[in-house]
Amino acid sequence: MSTKKVTKIGVLTSGGDSPGMNAAIRAVVRTGLYNGLEVFGIVRGYSGMIDDDIIPMNGRSVANIIQRGGTILKTARSQEFMTAEGRAIAYENLQKHGINGLVVIGGDGSFRGAQKFSSEFNIPCIGIPGTIDRDMAGTDSTIGFDTAVNTAVEAIDKIRDTMDAHDRLFIVEVMGRDAGYIALHSGIATGAENILIPETKTDIEELITSLTEKEKRKKLVNLIVVAEGGEFGDANGLAAIVKKRIPTADVRVCILGHIQRGGSPTCHDRLVASHMGYYAVESLLNGRFNVMIGVINNKITYTPLDKAVKERQRIGQEWMRIVKILAS
Ligand code: F6P
Repeated sequence: MSTKKVTKIGVLTSGGDSPGMNAAIRAVVRTGLYNGLEVFGIVRGYSGMIDDDIIPMNGRSVANIIQRGGTILKTARSQEFMTAEGRAIAYENLQKHGINGLVVIGGDGSFRGAQKFSSEFNIPCIGIPGTIDRDMAGTDSTIGFDTAVNTAVEAIDKIRDTMDAHDRLFIVEVMGRDAGYIALHSGIATGAENILIPETKTDIEELITSLTEKEKRKKLVNLIVVAEGGEFGDANGLAAIVKKRIPTADVRVCILGHIQRGGSPTCHDRLVASHMGYYAVESLLNGRFNVMIGVINNKITYTPLDKAVKERQRIGQEWMRIVKILAS
């Protein structure tokens, strides 16, 4: 806890956008104003901080956005903020506006930036986990995951219809360069026969043997959900292996891509975002600085930013065992 008083705050979104970021911005702005703070929106994340693209926000600036995907503040992955010179310019700009507290909505890369910045310039930063990847320790939910995974489920259900009609093997690629949560959850929810994720090793021989065996007993319909950062590359990489090893298989690939990042946030994501946005400002007001707001078992939690960026959410092996049993 610190006794330093925060009077003017900046809010920004950074890294890959995620549905529900707007709901979080709205909650931060309105909670800040309610408590007598001045609130500024920083456009395009850390890039806007360096370019002095900083705008005052009022209650109306965040009207009619709770249901919208994307982010009204725009987002970026700033290379310049990774340099000491870039961060020094950013700090000067914050000083110019008198901003003495920051709320950063983003993923682990964004929090790494926030942590470095706060340690260098002693500026209080609060992190709100906004990422469709859900790969942050210290929280059960990240803003956008629920929407993204439901988008994936809806799309895969449609693929299953045509896959079934043609007795085909489908390999569906979902997002997650380093994280398999979208693949795991959407794969289980759509009854996938196999799920390939970056966090666990894939026994390719076992996969080929099981597909060959299924071909023999004429179980021709097979759904494989793969995270884009899978061990054997993306869906196309895996399809090439399967086609080579089982030339008779009728394989099709579908890459869901960025449709998973857009769209109107689900009720869950709007609630989580509103909750976290409110507590981010409360945290600044109460002198609880440099933490990530999380929700664990429906309770708000505060994880020190340095811990949040060091630790990753782990996928239990138990889930992969269940997938095998349910798909047999
Ligand atoms: O971090 C979110 C995410 O959507 C990842 O799942 C994905 O690998 C990455 O962003 C894609 O980033 P970009 O939009 O820059 O291609």
